[in-house]
Amino acid sequence: MCTTDLVNARSLIERNPKALKLIETNQADRPLAVQLFGGVSEEMRDAALYLQSTGISAIDINMGCPVRKVVKTGGGSAMMTELGKTQKLVRCMVDALKIPVTAKMRLGWDDDNITAPDLARALEDAGIAAIFVHGRTRAQGFEGTVNLSGIRRVVEAVGDVPVVGNGDVTSPEAARHMIEQTGCHGVSMGRGAFYNPWMFKHTEHFLKSGELLPEPTFEKRIEVLRRHYHLMLEVFGEERGSIMFRKVAPWYAKRFGPAKPFNKAVVQIKSRRDFEAVLADYLNWRKQFTDKDGNLFPQYELLPMIASFMRERETAAEKRKVIPVPKGPVEVW
Ligand SMILES: Cc1cc2nc3c(=O)[nH]c(=O)nc-3n(C[C@H](O)[C@H](O)[C@H](O)COP(=O)(O)O)c2cc1C
Repeated sequence: MCTTDLVNARSLIERNPKALKLIETNQADRPLAVQLFGGVSEEMRDAALYLQSTGISAIDINMGCPVRKVVKTGGGSAMMTELGKTQKLVRCMVDALKIPVTAKMRLGWDDDNITAPDLARALEDAGIAAIFVHGRTRAQGFEGTVNLSGIRRVVEAVGDVPVVGNGDVTSPEAARHMIEQTGCHGVSMGRGAFYNPWMFKHTEHFLKSGELLPEPTFEKRIEVLRRHYHLMLEVFGEERGSIMFRKVAPWYAKRFGPAKPFNKAVVQIKSRRDFEAVLADYLNWRKQFTDKDGNLFPQYELLPMIASFMRERETAAEKRKVIPVPKGPVEVW
């Protein structure tokens, strides 16, 4: 299931064109949840009622965004600091709506204020349908390791409400690891899907069968990059779509192998012609790194993506290797 970007509840009530653009969708994009932010109960409720009337499947409340513009409305991660007020706001929405209301939170404001378990419990009392938790604090931003034990504490704090773990799930193995270590009922993925839009399908397959599907080929990645670009043009028009795609293309390029000139050039595109020219130049330039079948030479092959919470384990294991340890059975140490 997909959730939109966060949308300002007040802007939606005012039918602000920018807010309406953020919730633009089509029949193929179902079920779809819209994420709202705001600190005023009545505004959040009315915006949600409007969304319900348009056929949206669920409302997610943003309680994790660290950005000042959001926090100053009393929304985003500010909601994690006022549990009673947040619980009231959620109750007000749940009472008015027929569709499910979910919450997306972080572990807390900072390491000294890990409020997610208490907040989760309070929201369960208020009738929340699911909780999404990014295993970092607001103070961490997007840096540092995702804290799996923090997510587990949220899982343990609630009764029946499903908890969905989030943060750095960049591979199917990372999804399974997070589920096993935290007991969470599912995972949500953000950036991992930008690098690799196949992540959802591959993760579902891996969780069901234990089998890892092969990584998509470079040609397939280019095909999907191009389709993504054309869809952006359909929705936003040629110039605006091209400008917006400047941000998206380098995410794909992270899995291309050498891509410096592509990343430099793609952030200047303004039109379909620019895009095709950048791509053609890049495909030509990349040939020096590939064999006659188009495969990257071994020294340029990509390393698999490793989630922060799994990398740490590896580094710890590596560290253990370099620290001298006694050899032989314990009895002879
Ligand atoms: C560019 C960008 C935009 C984001 N926008 C939102 C948002 O609108 N609402 C939200 O709840 N989280 C948002 N996030 C946070 C992600 O949903 C997610 O919690 C975080 O990136 C960690 O998960 P990931 O490692 O799978 O990306 C955003 C993250 C990025 C990088």
